[in-house]
Amino acid sequence: MTRIPVIAGNWKMYKTHAESIAFVQELAPLLADYSGVERVVCPTFIALAGVAEALKGTGIKVGAQQMHWEPQGAFTSQIAPTMLQGLADYVIIGHSECRAYLAETDETVNKKAKAALAHALKPIIAVGESLAQNEAGETDAFVGGQVTAALAGLSAADMAQVIIAYEPIWAIGTGKNASAAQANSVIGMIRGVVRGLYGETVAAATRIQYGGSVKPENMLEYMSQPEIDGGLVGGASLKLNDFKELVRLAAQAKGV
Ligand code: PGA
Repeated sequence: MTRIPVIAGNWKMYKTHAESIAFVQELAPLLADYSGVERVVCPTFIALAGVAEALKGTGIKVGAQQMHWEPQGAFTSQIAPTMLQGLADYVIIGHSECRAYLAETDETVNKKAKAALAHALKPIIAVGESLAQNEAGETDAFVGGQVTAALAGLSAADMAQVIIAYEPIWAIGTGKNASAAQANSVIGMIRGVVRGLYGETVAAATRIQYGGSVKPENMLEYMSQPEIDGGLVGGASLKLNDFKELVRLAAQAKGV
């Protein structure tokens, strides 16, 4: 089973509406030669509509960084899945910054994953351990538990729409990335969890990204690992040439 590599740029709270649109207008032609890689940009909510419009016909997909699980309601400040429909293809769920600062839990991650799928949005489910957990040798148990909790109640058919992103918290925005072998090993473990839940066919088809200080200098090494199907990239995705390099190197490593 060949898995289509996927590079998603998570812009976090960077770039205004105008900056986001100007950026993707320049980015699109730079990525045009690499259609074998699925390319996704995740701007801030208020730029989603403009970015989606600017990327029409380019093959580049759009993702949101977060959402609520309810289709509507009295949830001041929140964005519903119904509001993302037609604007976004993907939605990042469970990013460690949302878990740390916005009270995201395994339970809300699971509710959001189900809500995304119910509204034809593809969840990118982010998981990852802290430095203390990593040093205590708890990575596999903790991350495996996050994956199991996030996927509770999802069907095998749902899994075709799901991407999992392994992002060790200690590697996000720190410049301190996990080694390619380390990342490959944890992602292999995650695939094993998916195998245990859904069987070999689903496990072999599920795309699992690495995230955490991914940059052009280390991209080839990550993407050369058999278990790693792509990157969820923060800082480097804010720069035109770096974004292009990430996609080019992914295409090179995977031969697409
Ligand atoms: P980083 O962020 O690439 O800046 O480390 C990754 C992420 O948070 O998704």
